[in-house]
Parts: sequence; structure tokens; C-alpha cells
Amino acid sequence: MGKGLTTLLLSCVLFSLCASSFAQTCKSYAFSSNKIFTSCQDLPVLSAFLHWSYDQSTNKVDIAYRHTGTSTSRWVAWAINPTGTGMIGAQALVAYQNSSSVMHVYTSPVSGYGTTLAEGALSFAVSNLSATFENSNEMTIFATLALGSGMTTVNQVWQEGPLSGDSPMSHDTASSSANMKSAGSLDFLNDQATTSAGGGLTSRQRRQNVHGVLNAVSWGTLMPLGAMIARYLKVFKSANPAWFYLHVACQTSAYAIGVAGWATGLKLGSEASSVIQYDTHRNIGITLFCLGTLQVFALLLRPKKDHKYRLYWNIYHHSVGYSVIILSIINIYEGLDILAPEKKWKKIYSGILIFMGVVAAILEAFTWFIVIKRKRTSSEKYPAYGNGVNGGNGYAARTENGV
Ligand SMILES: *[C@@H]1O[C@H](CO)[C@@H](O)[C@H](O)[C@H]1NC(C)=O
Repeated sequence: MGKGLTTLLLSCVLFSLCASSFAQTCKSYAFSSNKIFTSCQDLPVLSAFLHWSYDQSTNKVDIAYRHTGTSTSRWVAWAINPTGTGMIGAQALVAYQNSSSVMHVYTSPVSGYGTTLAEGALSFAVSNLSATFENSNEMTIFATLALGSGMTTVNQVWQEGPLSGDSPMSHDTASSSANMKSAGSLDFLNDQATTSAGGGLTSRQRRQNVHGVLNAVSWGTLMPLGAMIARYLKVFKSANPAWFYLHVACQTSAYAIGVAGWATGLKLGSEASSVIQYDTHRNIGITLFCLGTLQVFALLLRPKKDHKYRLYWNIYHHSVGYSVIILSIINIYEGLDILAPEKKWKKIYSGILIFMGVVAAILEAFTWFIVIKRKRTSSEKYPAYGNGVNGGNGYAARTENGV
């Protein structure tokens, strides 16, 4: 009953995590032109996506506005509004397929609600303007915008509507329609680890920190601690079976916190930039999640102590466990390099590891001491049956050699 419930819960968690990580996001999109943008955002309505690369030395931004679920009888537009939050004042890029069956793309400053999206120059320079129509329902506008140095956080508006011949007509204006919700703010530096103007953290940085702390605590600290509990408490007869429950409690909570940390990482990765840069970190993270989950199943599928398969189970449980610990530590350093927090954090984590390493070394020596001593006493007590209780065949052989 308990096992069944746990298995069911685990499957649900697994399923929903996988489902959400495979949901369509801008991050997983590859442009057919092989263009690469460092950042992207899934816009909340109208199945639209904004991809961009911001160059801080020139304040120029390359953008691609991708609008899915459209057709040749509709227009699409994306705009920055430097003076307001809605449509009035929007500096728009507009595209549609015109009557010559060519994608027509142009700039249009919007000054009133009755706009027909007439062509005109924008308040900032636009170059490399082009548009594509692909997969019979996807329009993308490409452009390079030369923004002022203060314009790294802007208000954006995106829109779509019907065409009449070669003229864009008014979009849906029903107050409940998605077309009335297609505006929001955009931070071109969102994915870079710089502090915001107020000296505070951006929401992304806060979430990155949460991700880092959750994983450093769970995979990076609790997991090795739990392994140490199993390895070093086991020798004390009085700690039996307490060590087992401590080990399970430690690893289960580490796994629970670790999965939360892992999920925040997937979310951060799916929103963000630099696909290539974070690949190693992401792949190790996914591997860790799988190995960690295997360990939880290992607990549920554990054969009895005297079962003939117990030896194989032990080998499997130990090798997966040690791999998890090694990979976790590697990935925490990978993550620290990506986040690049103040140096002290790397030092603090290294300090924790060194401390645990020293404690483990001392306990390791102590364990060997106890085990050998125990074998020696038992063979002194029962010299003829030295291979009895502890299965000390090897020791019996060694005593014969006078060791
Ligand atoms: C269609 O758009 C292309 C590209 O902007 C333009 O050269 C062409 O004149 C347009 N055709 C019509 C009928 O407006």
C-alpha cells in the first residue's frame, strides 16, 4: 500500500515534469536560417515569441518576432512603445503577405486608435528588416534596432489582425480577446547576471539564486551526508537500524528538495539564453535527476538482506549513489561558474566539501580500525571458527600467514 502510493506519486511527479519540459517554448526553437539569438521570451498571448541578442557596446538589438498560428490573410506586428504602455505611441514592425505573394515588411509609428498601419519612420533607426512565412502558419519579422543607451527595459506590444487586399484592418477589440492583452515589459538584459539599476536583483537572478541554494543544499550537501551516514553509522551496532532510517530520511528529503531545484533549473533554462553555454550543466542535471530517481526506486525494490540478488542490488545502489555524488559536485561547480556569484559562495561550498571530506577520512580510518579489531577479537574468541559470525574467511587465511 505505502509502496504503491509512493510509486504512484513519483510517476506523477515524473510525468508532469517531463510534460512541462517538453512544452513548446522559444528556447527549443531553431531558426531555419541557423540564426542564433542569445535570449528569448514566450509572449503570454497570441502564440508569439520574441528572440533577441542585445549588444551592450552599441546598444543595438537583433530581434526576431515569431508569430505562429497565422495565415496569409492576416498581418502581424511587434512594437516598442517608448512613450506609453499600449498601442498609442507604439513604434511598430509590420508584416503580411501581399497580393504579389511576397512578404511585405515595413515600419509604422502608431499615433491613434484608427491607424491603418501606414508606412513611416520610427523614433529609432531600424535596419536588416525582413520577414518570412513558414510552415504555412508562422510569420517571423527580423530586424536590428538601434536603441538609445537608456532603453534596455522597454514596453512592448504585439498584434495581429485581418487583411483586406493589401491593407491591414483593425484587430479584434473585444475586451476579453487576447488582442487586448498583448502588451508587456521587456528587459533586454534579462539573462545577464548584472544587478538592476536599483542595486536589487532582477526576478531572474532571484530565481537563479533559489535554484543554486536548493541544489547546493540537496544534491551537494545532504546527499553526500546521507551516504556518510549509511557508510559510517552502520559499523556501530547500537546505531542499527537507526542508521538506515536516518539514511532514508536524509536521501528522501535531499531528493525532494533536489527535484524542486532541478525543476527551477529546467524553467530557467527554458526561458533563457545561451543554449550552448549551459548545455553541460543542463545535461548533467538531467542525468542526475534520472540517477536520483533510480535510487528512490532502488529503495522501493530492495531485496531482503539474505536474498541471493542482494549482492547485485548493493553493487547497483552503491555505484549509482557514488556517481550521483560525484556528478552533483561537478554540476554545482558548473552552476557556480554560470551564476558567477560573489567569490565567497564558491569558497563556502568548497569549505563544506573539505569539511565533509576530512570527517569522512577520519571515519573511514576509524571504521577500518573497528572492523579489523572486531575480526581480531572474534577470531581470538573463536580461533577455530573465525569464519563464522563475520564471514571472515579472508581473515582466517591471513592469521594463518601470521598477519
Ligand atoms: C509586395 O511586397 C513587396 C516587398 O515589400 C513589394 O516589392 C511589392 O511591390 C508588393 N506588392 C504589392 C502589390 O504591393
